[in-house]
Amino acid sequence: MKTAPDWSPDSWRARPRVQQPNYPDESALRAVVDELRQLPPLVSPWEIDALRAQLADAAAGRKFLLQGGDCAERFSDCRADTITNKLKILLQMSLVLVEGAQAPIIRVGRFAGQYAKPRTEDLETRDGVTLPAYRGDLVNAPEFTAAARTPDPRRLRRGYSRGAMTLNYVRALVKGGFADLHHPEYWDLDFVERSPLAEEYQRLVRRIGNSLRFMENILGARPGEIQEVDFYVSHEGLLLDYEEAQTRWLDAAGRWYNLSTHFPWIGMRTSDPSGAHAEYFRGIANPIGLKVGPATSPERLLRLLDVLDPAREPGRMTLIHRFGREHIRAALPPLLAAVRASGRAPLWVCDPMHGNTRPTAEGLKTRAFDDILGELEQAFELHAEASGRLGGVHFELTGDNVTECTGGARGLSEQDLKRAYQSEVDPRLNSEQALEMAMLIARKMTALNAR
Ligand code: PEP
Ligand code: CO
Repeated sequence: MKTAPDWSPDSWRARPRVQQPNYPDESALRAVVDELRQLPPLVSPWEIDALRAQLADAAAGRKFLLQGGDCAERFSDCRADTITNKLKILLQMSLVLVEGAQAPIIRVGRFAGQYAKPRTEDLETRDGVTLPAYRGDLVNAPEFTAAARTPDPRRLRRGYSRGAMTLNYVRALVKGGFADLHHPEYWDLDFVERSPLAEEYQRLVRRIGNSLRFMENILGARPGEIQEVDFYVSHEGLLLDYEEAQTRWLDAAGRWYNLSTHFPWIGMRTSDPSGAHAEYFRGIANPIGLKVGPATSPERLLRLLDVLDPAREPGRMTLIHRFGREHIRAALPPLLAAVRASGRAPLWVCDPMHGNTRPTAEGLKTRAFDDILGELEQAFELHAEASGRLGGVHFELTGDNVTECTGGARGLSEQDLKRAYQSEVDPRLNSEQALEMAMLIARKMTALNAR
């Protein structure tokens, strides 16, 4: 694949842009971006190419994608315990999903850069005072004061540093043996140990440990050869100044790469085929996630695919659909049919979070466990009915014991939410709800495979 024609890392600037902050001081922004341009990248092109190959395998039915993390990381989340807990829950979920998917799991965190948020409203008014909306720690701060809400370009530098620190710690844990499949006990979370699901999970861990030892005996593999798992990172590629600054040319490949993350995605609100985001994304070599929702007509989706992936490169496109439990049955099949008829075979992934958000009586944003599960179960069925396959799942979750989504084995009610509601943006599954979700969808996959 060649470089995209008429493209440069800044060619997006000539296109209509949305969801970008209004910085009061343009020269301060330029100074920070120039500094970011000089700093070393966070990931390497070789890792990106390896992930693209794995996503191509998933699109072909040979692997399954688990993508998850916070709606928005906070700079204050860059702590050992928070990072470790997120890694633990994703590792536990992937262990559970291996059985259901009967395929290796690709693990991708929504972290080390998930700091910028699109907002439906540019402004927020409280008690007659109007200020810019909170757009994530990469842009401003959530406190409702003019100082906190004014976009500050120095936050781009902090975001880069926090991303680097997070990734450094993830790599140290993974390479240092934390993700060793022989030691799933490293991943135990105190909270989940006391869960009604603990016993079922421990049984599964024992089964997998036995299979692993069996395989090693059969293959004669030495310890160390198959024991470690990979971990990749992703974030919404929203702030184009930030993404552009980390976009680098690799001579050996003859391509540009976004080296701020392995797997950037285009959000619902920035997916205009002729807009600035589509323009930026079309020129980078990374695998691309594209959110697909109620506003995505089949024509628009095909046009986006033509813009973003004219060469139809295996592993290039992951379509992350997010319709909501009530809407997926009507909305998804026409898109599956149109994409199939175009001769394309992207990886399809379900985000069961963003179409299922609703306010509680007291005005907190929440999501019900059963709505999330309900959308996922339909997604598995609808893909199978269309003779295809759902190749992955995308969650907003945390390894901590928060109370943001209702339901699950402990039956969290709306009244319980206040106890530990931390998110400034969307509600996340807590670790116990996330593990239960993985168990239930593994069960669903097993039932579908048996048909
Ligand atoms: C998100 O993933 O946090 C998000 C904002 O999703 P979407 O673009 O699908 O609304
Ligand atoms: Co979100």
